[in-house]
Amino acid sequence: MELYERIPNNVNLSQDKRLQRALEKWLPNYLEWWREMGPEGFQDKDVYLRTAVGVDAEGWANFDYVKMPDYRWGIFLKPAEADARVGFGDNYGMPVYQEVPGEFRNALRRIIVTQGDTEPASVEQQRQLGKTCPSLYDLRNLFQVNVEEGRHLWAMVYLLHGYFGRDGRDEADALLERRSGNPDRPRILEAFNQPCDDWLNFFCFTMFTDRDGKYQLAALAESGFEPLARTCQFMLTEEAHHLFVGETGVGRVVKRTAELMKQSKDGDARELGGISLDIIQKYINFWFSYSLDLFGGEISSNSADFFAAGLKGRFKEQDQYEDHIAAEGSFTLTVVEDGKLAQREVPLRNALNEVLRGEYVKDCERAMTRWNKYLTDAGVDAQLYLPSTRFHRHVGEFAGHYFDVQGNMITKEEFESRQSEWLPTIEDREYVRSLMHAATEPGKIANWIAPPSAGIKGKPFEFEYVRL
Ligand SMILES: [Fe+2]
Ligand SMILES: [Fe+2]
Repeated sequence: MELYERIPNNVNLSQDKRLQRALEKWLPNYLEWWREMGPEGFQDKDVYLRTAVGVDAEGWANFDYVKMPDYRWGIFLKPAEADARVGFGDNYGMPVYQEVPGEFRNALRRIIVTQGDTEPASVEQQRQLGKTCPSLYDLRNLFQVNVEEGRHLWAMVYLLHGYFGRDGRDEADALLERRSGNPDRPRILEAFNQPCDDWLNFFCFTMFTDRDGKYQLAALAESGFEPLARTCQFMLTEEAHHLFVGETGVGRVVKRTAELMKQSKDGDARELGGISLDIIQKYINFWFSYSLDLFGGEISSNSADFFAAGLKGRFKEQDQYEDHIAAEGSFTLTVVEDGKLAQREVPLRNALNEVLRGEYVKDCERAMTRWNKYLTDAGVDAQLYLPSTRFHRHVGEFAGHYFDVQGNMITKEEFESRQSEWLPTIEDREYVRSLMHAATEPGKIANWIAPPSAGIKGKPFEFEYVRL
């Protein structure tokens, strides 16, 4: 079978000899990477997966049993709109770019490589999790996320191969060479080098870290570089499920913890084999703060340049804003000046990372409200919260300074003496890991998490989502 017949696509691969040649070399390396770094122990099992085989309503969500290595990694872009125009910045209203604007070539390649690097990284982080799945439903969701992250890597590699020539091909090879957490050749972003070795980590990761991905993709989906915009638009349709897995996953843990707290004489979920609220809170603090870093510095000339060039917009740029030039406005943000918190006014375009981060925080707060309702409904007094956006930051204005979870500036010594209250300790992680035993009979679920309110694609929770 010809290569272009094996790769479902809507980029006219059968006619594009150059792209075919590039993919022909890359595909075997990708499959080798998947065998080496993809989910361990389940490669020959039938999994009830959604596969995109086209971009229309029918084709993008095709459900069937598939063995993961046989998943059809495709290349899909949202169909082009006629007469599309640059939607913001200095070139507002001009025809969209079909090629990479020369002066932004390096920067754009960097953005695509950085996004691309996160996709295989998360597969690597999650590769052992199948062995301790809380249910077949969750196992299937893990694998769905994994194969789609693999496909997202394809999406970015398509752009590198298609638009960046020789250096694009080198970058595409390097995406398969870095490894999450490897000290010599780590993944680019720190959140993607953190271990994700228990299911509470997985749910927090898909809740908080994948959600950063949603906002980055949404900003790039506005791009005036049309192939990038259309690629990201299609990725967002898949990403929604990953966020669902994370948000409902943490929510189900909270729900179960609340039940166990009520059942226990001392109100202690741990006594009955659950995860205590304070551990859930620490995991939230950890993943939320690392994920905030992914938006970049609060004040950024890069963000201004990218907006001006029409390459990276704001969240829902077209629906949410009237002024798409944004050249005049200013934005007041909190910074550290002479060791103290201060307000500073900066040109709006320089604050766009912070503007995007603000959208993300609002979205996280919405989920938090939902989780807290589970606690209230169960009659538990305590509530979960998001820590201050200054807490535990490693990038931007607050990096190198120390804050408590309310955002008060404290000394390094105070932070170090109190961090076990705020961030997971080795004992917390070991305790959570001690609960992780696979529940693999259809309809069975681990004790520390509540079942989902519905199954996948109208199937019941008891459905055999993975045939073991
Ligand atoms: Fe992704
Ligand atoms: Fe994702």
